[in-house]
Amino acid sequence: MRISQEDLKGLIKTKLHNAGLKEDHAETAADVLVFADERGIHSHGAMRVEYYAERIAKGGINTNPDFRFEKTGPCSGVFHADGGNGHTAAKLAMDEAIKMAKESGIAIVGVRDMSHSGAISYFTHQAADANLIGLTVCQSDPMVVPFGGAEPYYGTNPIAFAAPSAEDGKFITLDMATTVQAWGKILHARSKNESIPDTWAVDKNGEPTTDPFNVNALLPISGPKGYGLMMMVDVLSGILLGLPFGNKVSSMYEDLTEYRKLGQLHIVINPEFFGSLGNFKKDISQTMDDLNQIKPAPGFSKVLYPGQNNDVVIAEYKENGIEIVDDILEYLRSDVIHNNQYDHKDPFAK
Ligand code: NAI
Repeated sequence: MRISQEDLKGLIKTKLHNAGLKEDHAETAADVLVFADERGIHSHGAMRVEYYAERIAKGGINTNPDFRFEKTGPCSGVFHADGGNGHTAAKLAMDEAIKMAKESGIAIVGVRDMSHSGAISYFTHQAADANLIGLTVCQSDPMVVPFGGAEPYYGTNPIAFAAPSAEDGKFITLDMATTVQAWGKILHARSKNESIPDTWAVDKNGEPTTDPFNVNALLPISGPKGYGLMMMVDVLSGILLGLPFGNKVSSMYEDLTEYRKLGQLHIVINPEFFGSLGNFKKDISQTMDDLNQIKPAPGFSKVLYPGQNNDVVIAEYKENGIEIVDDILEYLRSDVIHNNQYDHKDPFAK
């Protein structure tokens, strides 16, 4: 079903507020979730509200956190999220990083003890909106085998980047999990009883599997290289901030009554400290155009710049409304807040 951006945001905000989140935190969470849906990143949009609402209602997200920003150096800081809503904490931490990078040229701000923060390009877009380059990485729950391993150690540890072009609001963007496929794609194959390519996941013996019901862990992108990127993300957003790391990162579903203590790291670079901002933005536009002009390979109609696939979706959804699965809208419009839908669920359970 199609729904307008404002209506979807309103429904999500109300549901999360009813579950117990403060109004301004619910508003930010709704903004981040709709940011994902309106770009076609449905795995991190309204689909997540049911789980967040249960976790909030069970006390697994601090609804009255003592958010505190600690400036630790001229270009560095730590945002203490106190188990609070991850979307809000990551957004406020990025606001601090932006201020610092405007002044000092670069900023590195860690977020400690947060809950899940969704599609993390939202935060790099905050930086790009302020004429800065944004890079962010965060931890997620362990469900990926290290290269050569038969049991999970790292999470799907995503990386996002955005830089502003000469056109207001138009950015070149990368936003990716470091796994071949998101867990949501395996759930989708299960729901349709379809097999999956043997490059996505492994079974309990660490053998590649094409049966979505036999998946016991996901595979990193490009073998040891993706595995190395996951390690990098975990060091920067976990070990650096003194947080649980590797397979000690809390699971999304293990105990919905406990705060998650996740970490995220924002790195912001001010192009003005490296040359002319105008030239930088002009050259970003040029590289986007260059990429669009590259001769397409057989089977492709056009080369897109990174993130352009999402820009195409935004344009279509702006015109016709955002496409949301009927069941999800039905849930959002209802008064339901589940008590035992997600708690203690094995993520790989059939
Ligand atoms: P994806 O595979 O859909 O896209 C990855 C990247 O490829 C994007 O930057 C996208 O713009 C680009 N891309 C895709 N098709 C393209 C094309 N035809 N031409 C040019 N570029 C193209 O993303 P993925 O890995 O499934 O991640 C989805 C979301 O999940 C992200 O927003 C990520 O932040 C989020 N995530 C969040 C986690 C968390 O714990 N907060 C954990 C893991 C993922």
